[in-house]
Amino acid sequence: MSTAENITGQRILVIGGSRDIGFAIAQEAARAGATVIIGARKAQKAQRASATIPGGLWTTIDITDEESIITALHDIGPIDHIIVMASAHHNVPVTELDHDKVAAAFETKVIGPLMLAKHTADVLPATGSITLFSGVAAWKPERDYSIMGISNGAVAFTARHLAHELAPIRVNAISPGITDSGSWDSMGAGKQAFMKEAAAGTLAGRVGINRDIVDTALWLLSAGFVTGETIHVEGGASLA
Ligand SMILES: NC(=O)c1ccc[n+]([C@@H]2O[C@H](COP(=O)([O-])OP(=O)(O)OC[C@H]3O[C@@H](n4cnc5c(N)ncnc54)[C@H](OP(=O)(O)O)[C@@H]3O)[C@@H](O)[C@H]2O)c1
Repeated sequence: MSTAENITGQRILVIGGSRDIGFAIAQEAARAGATVIIGARKAQKAQRASATIPGGLWTTIDITDEESIITALHDIGPIDHIIVMASAHHNVPVTELDHDKVAAAFETKVIGPLMLAKHTADVLPATGSITLFSGVAAWKPERDYSIMGISNGAVAFTARHLAHELAPIRVNAISPGITDSGSWDSMGAGKQAFMKEAAAGTLAGRVGINRDIVDTALWLLSAGFVTGETIHVEGGASLA
């Protein structure tokens, strides 16, 4: 059975689905026949993104706020799958760490998904799934990227432990390499050199594109024998 057949008619909440990789996943899931609910912190962003997706729905949700999770889940009704894109960056040398920004990174990547699991363990069907997002920085330490690396590493263990506790609901993580998703556009003129260097640091000789991650996310939705895993989609960056 193809992915499209498997997710037709299923309801998928994409938290952080209003832009970049999350939006690309939402678009493709809708194309495959799913009903997609875009979750974003700002109503306007969620509404605008969902309006471009056939049958798209939306909700406001901040994964670092337990009340917001409860309200969103109540408002949207039954769901089959949840994909969590949220991240909060604090890319500085360890000597310049800011306690609150470190906490925000872990609130977003680890504590938020745990609270989400708390409120969805009894809501998702036995065939349901949660997909979290880790990242290559976890497996390839780089100066200034320790918080990104450590918090993304913790995501892999979060998926593993939640998969065990929430079974048969499946919980997995995707670990992208540097992906030209749109999130790097704020680098401005420096982006091109950054991408070139990132591409050279892979075995594939290129950075990721949204399609690489979208394909993996859609496959995971119906990969019924895969749980507790972190799927590395990074062109061999951590081996290069
Ligand atoms: N792109 C890469 O090179 C790369 C590499 C490795 C790992 N990853 C991981 O892959 C995931 C997606 O990457 P991306 O490039 O698409 O990232 P992104 O552009 O940073 O997107 C993150 C999304 O999450 C939302 N978000 C942030 N904090 C949130 C919160 N507290 N509650 C709910 N939503 C929140 C953002 O919405 P707002 O508009 O509200 O900010 C945005 O829609 C991220 O987890 C990232 O860490 C990406």
